[in-house]
Amino acid sequence: MTAPTEHLVSVDGTGVRFACAEGDTLLRAALRAGVGLGYECNSGGCGSCRYDLLEGEVHDRRPDAPGLSARDRRRGRRLACQSEPLSDCTVRVGALTGPARHRPLRQTAVLRSVTPLTHDMREFAFVARTHAGFRPGQYAMVTLPGGQVERAYSMSNLGNCHGEWRFVVKRVPGGRSTSVLFDALAPGAEVVLDGPFGHAHLREEGARDIVCAAGGSGLGAMVSTVLGAAARPDAGEWTVHLFCGGRTGEDLHVPEQVVRAGRRLGALHVHTAVSDEDAAGGDALRAGHFRGFLHEAVLDRLAGRLTDFTYYAAGPPAMTDALARALVIGAGVDADRLHYDRFC
Ligand code: FES
Repeated sequence: MTAPTEHLVSVDGTGVRFACAEGDTLLRAALRAGVGLGYECNSGGCGSCRYDLLEGEVHDRRPDAPGLSARDRRRGRRLACQSEPLSDCTVRVGALTGPARHRPLRQTAVLRSVTPLTHDMREFAFVARTHAGFRPGQYAMVTLPGGQVERAYSMSNLGNCHGEWRFVVKRVPGGRSTSVLFDALAPGAEVVLDGPFGHAHLREEGARDIVCAAGGSGLGAMVSTVLGAAARPDAGEWTVHLFCGGRTGEDLHVPEQVVRAGRRLGALHVHTAVSDEDAAGGDALRAGHFRGFLHEAVLDRLAGRLTDFTYYAAGPPAMTDALARALVIGAGVDADRLHYDRFC
C-alpha cells in the first residue's frame, strides 16, 4: 500500500510548518495540525481565511468564491479554505490564533434517525466510530452520498463519547443538499463528517447572562449553546434569553430538551418572533410572538439593558448581519461580546 501524498506548508516569518494530505485544504490541514489560521465559514464566502501564496502551487476548489474581492484577485490573494496544495508551499497569513481545543477529524458516520420538528425542519442524528468532540455552537462539514455536496451544519447536541452528531436542518427550496437530506437519505445511509469548526462556541469564562438568537437551521447551534450552559456546574448562575425567529408561527420550534435544560439554569426566557406581517396577523399576537425581524425582537425585549449580555447568534446571513449592526453600531454593544460565524 502506498502512503498518501503529503505536501509541507511553511508559514512565512513564524517558523510554523505543517503537512497537508493530498485533497485536503490548506485551512483544514492547518487546523488538524493545531495551527490556528483565521477563518469563519470554511466555504469560500466570508473572506476571513485570505492569504498570500509566496512559493508553490495550489488547486483552487472554487475560483469564483465570493470571499475574494476583485482587488484581492488582482493582488493574487487566495482563500485557505478553498486551496488544495499541489506541492510544498510557503504562505503569508495574518496573525495566527491559538490551537483549537478539538482538532477537526474527517470520518464516516451513519444516519441513525430523523425527527420532524416543523413542516420544513428536521433533526438528523448520525453516529460515527470515534467520540464526538466539539464545543456547543460549533459546526461540521457534511458530505452527502455521491460526494458532490458538502455543507456546513451546526451540531444541536453536546460533545459526547458515543460518537453522536445531531444537526437541525431547515429545507431550502430547490437546495441540492437539503433535497438529498430530506428526500433521499434513509437511516443506515453513510455520510462524511469533517469537524468540528467554528469560533461562535459558548464561552465558559466571563458573562453568565447570555442571549442566543436563532433563525432557520441556526436553531441547532443555539440549542447546543443552551444545553452547554445548562450542563455547567454553575448553571444556576446563568440567565439565558433564547430568541427564535421565523416567517410565520409554523416555522417556529422550541425543542423539549431546551425547556428541560431551563430547569437547571438560573433562568431561561424564550422569545419568538415572526416576520411576515400578513401571515402573522392576529394569530401571532394571540400566540405571544413578537411581530418583526429577530433583531427587532432582541432590541424590543431587552431594551435598556442590551449592553448587559453576551450574544450568540446563528442563522441566515441577513439575520446575523442585521443583529450585529443593531447591537454593535446601534446599541453600543462591544463587538467582542457578539459571537457568530459568517456564512455568506
Ligand atoms: Fe474561507 Fe470563509 S472564505 S473561511
